Amino acid sequence: MTTEHSISVLGATGKTGRRVAAQLRNEGHRVRAASRRGPHRFDWDDQTTWNAVVRDADGIYILPHEAPGGNERLATFTGLAANAGVRRLVLLSAREWTDLGLTESLEREDIVRDSGLAWTILRPVWFAQNFSEEPFFAKGVDDGELVHGTGEGRHPFVDVRDIAAVASAALTDERHAGQHYALTGARAISVEEAVAAIASATGRTIRTRALDADTYREYLHRHYPPEVGDSVVTLSERIRSGQDAYLSDGVQRALGREPRDFSEYVDEATNAGVWGR
Ligand SMILES: NC(=O)c1ccc[n+]([C@@H]2O[C@H](COP(=O)([O-])OP(=O)(O)OC[C@H]3O[C@@H](n4cnc5c(N)ncnc54)[C@H](OP(=O)(O)O)[C@@H]3O)[C@@H](O)[C@H]2O)c1
Repeated sequence: MTTEHSISVLGATGKTGRRVAAQLRNEGHRVRAASRRGPHRFDWDDQTTWNAVVRDADGIYILPHEAPGGNERLATFTGLAANAGVRRLVLLSAREWTDLGLTESLEREDIVRDSGLAWTILRPVWFAQNFSEEPFFAKGVDDGELVHGTGEGRHPFVDVRDIAAVASAALTDERHAGQHYALTGARAISVEEAVAAIASATGRTIRTRALDADTYREYLHRHYPPEVGDSVVTLSERIRSGQDAYLSDGVQRALGREPRDFSEYVDEATNAGVWGR
């Protein structure tokens, strides 16, 4: 099916947006890939770039702006989208935000639900692709030693390809309107098990070093902005406690199939040569 209108994808150079845009194009939809560096310039910090993203858009994939004032901007943006006749919004949220009751993050969901437009909320857990595309894990894999704060706790890392598949479905099929989809992988594994799978597939030696929360926070603060470090430590502690190992059924409910297994991600990334040798 091809839509006459476009679908706008925010964060289109990022881990999820890139794949959402690709999947929609493969399905024959017209896509506006929007971000600061993308083909359609969109900047949360520059409101003059917003109109071009909402104009003639049937649906919008929203990656929220996690910065001070980001929620106010989101509210203005969804108002603009409603006035422009956009029909559907799909918001990337996170399962941890509901589990931990993070008020400011959850306000984004309220804003989208209150937009007056059809909405779908995606609540993924940590991405499998963090091991190849998100520095706090990927750099450790590259360096041959991944430092982490999750102890022996397990987590059901979700494949970003599944997030993109659910987002694409929600952007094009009204049956997903009004749904919250908590998205996980097929099984929960520890960081040590994840790294062992990558080491085995690539033939590389990769160590893991588990730190307690305070030492891990100090480590992260040496390498990343404090807010990034603090958020990684908070979720790491939840994983360490075992409370975050549970599976959710959003992929099954949205797509009628099982989630991709972590091993499929590892094989695909290995074959693509993302970890070198
Ligand atoms: N990683 C995880 O495990 C995980 C799990 C659950 C939820 N999440 C949530 O996922 C979101 C990140 O999504 P992602 O991983 O797909 O993205 P990402 O890989 O972190 O990339 C960020 C995207 O946002 C764009 N961007 C950054 N600043 C912007 C601005 N001022 N205006 C417009 N666009 C901007 C970037 O493109 P340009 O640089 O071209 O602008 C890029 O396309 C976060 O909200 C995070 O909390 C992540």
